[in-house]
Amino acid sequence: MQASVELPGTQRNWVFDPPPEVLASRLFAAGGYFVVSGLFDRATLDELRAEAEAARSEGARQVLAESDGVEGRGGSPARAFRSGRGGALHWGLHGSPDMQARLEEWCGVTAMPTGSGSFSYYEQPGDFLSLHRDILQCDMAVITCLSASVGDGPSGELTVYPGFIREPLSTVRAAGPRYGTVVALQPGHTIFLLGGLVPHEVTPTCAGQERIVAINCFRIETSSDRKPPVAETMPDKVLETACR
Ligand SMILES: [Fe+2]
Repeated sequence: MQASVELPGTQRNWVFDPPPEVLASRLFAAGGYFVVSGLFDRATLDELRAEAEAARSEGARQVLAESDGVEGRGGSPARAFRSGRGGALHWGLHGSPDMQARLEEWCGVTAMPTGSGSFSYYEQPGDFLSLHRDILQCDMAVITCLSASVGDGPSGELTVYPGFIREPLSTVRAAGPRYGTVVALQPGHTIFLLGGLVPHEVTPTCAGQERIVAINCFRIETSSDRKPPVAETMPDKVLETACR
C-alpha cells in the first residue's frame, strides 16, 4: 500500500523501505540504536542541565489521553510530560561540526539537525509517552539524559523495539512491552536512535521519579531520489513535541 502523508511529518501506514544510506549505516547494523557515556563532559552536562531548568517554566505540558491510529511515523501518540525549548548551549552542542563528525564516525551517517532541540521533563508520577516512531523530519534522535532520580517504584524508562522495525505499530502494541528493550539512561548517557524506524516509548514514571532529557532530531542525508516525501519544513514549536 502506498504510504500517505495526512499530517505534517506523519506517515500513516507503515512501509519498511529505508534508504540505502540507512541500511548501510553502523547505527542500523547495531540494531537501530546504541548508548554512549561521556559524549558531553561533566561541566557541559551541568550547564545543559541548568539550561533545561531555566527553560522548564516556559515549557508546556503535553497531555493526550489516547494515541491516534497511525501505524507508521509521527501522528499523535498518547503522552503526559513537559516539553521545553533548547537554548544556545543545546544548539551549540547538537548543531556543531563536532556533532556532525561524531554522527559520521559513530553512526555512519551524514545527518543535519532539523531544529534547535528541546528538553523533555517527565516530572509527575505517571508521565509517559506512548509507542511511536518519530516524524518524517526526524530520522535519528540524539537523546542525552540530564537527570534520572530514583522513585518509589518501577521507573519509567525509554523502551525500544528493534525487533519490530518491519511491523506496524499495532503489531508492536499487540506484542506488548515484554518484547521491548528497556534503555535505562543514566545522567550523562546518550542514545543515538533511528527513531523513525525503531518503535519506542517511555513507560510511566513512578512517584518521586524525575527524568529530564535533551533531544535533538536529525535528517539523514540520502540520494535525492530516495528522500522521504517531506516537502514542508517544520517550525521548532512542532519539533519540540514531535521528537521526544
Ligand atoms: Fe520519539
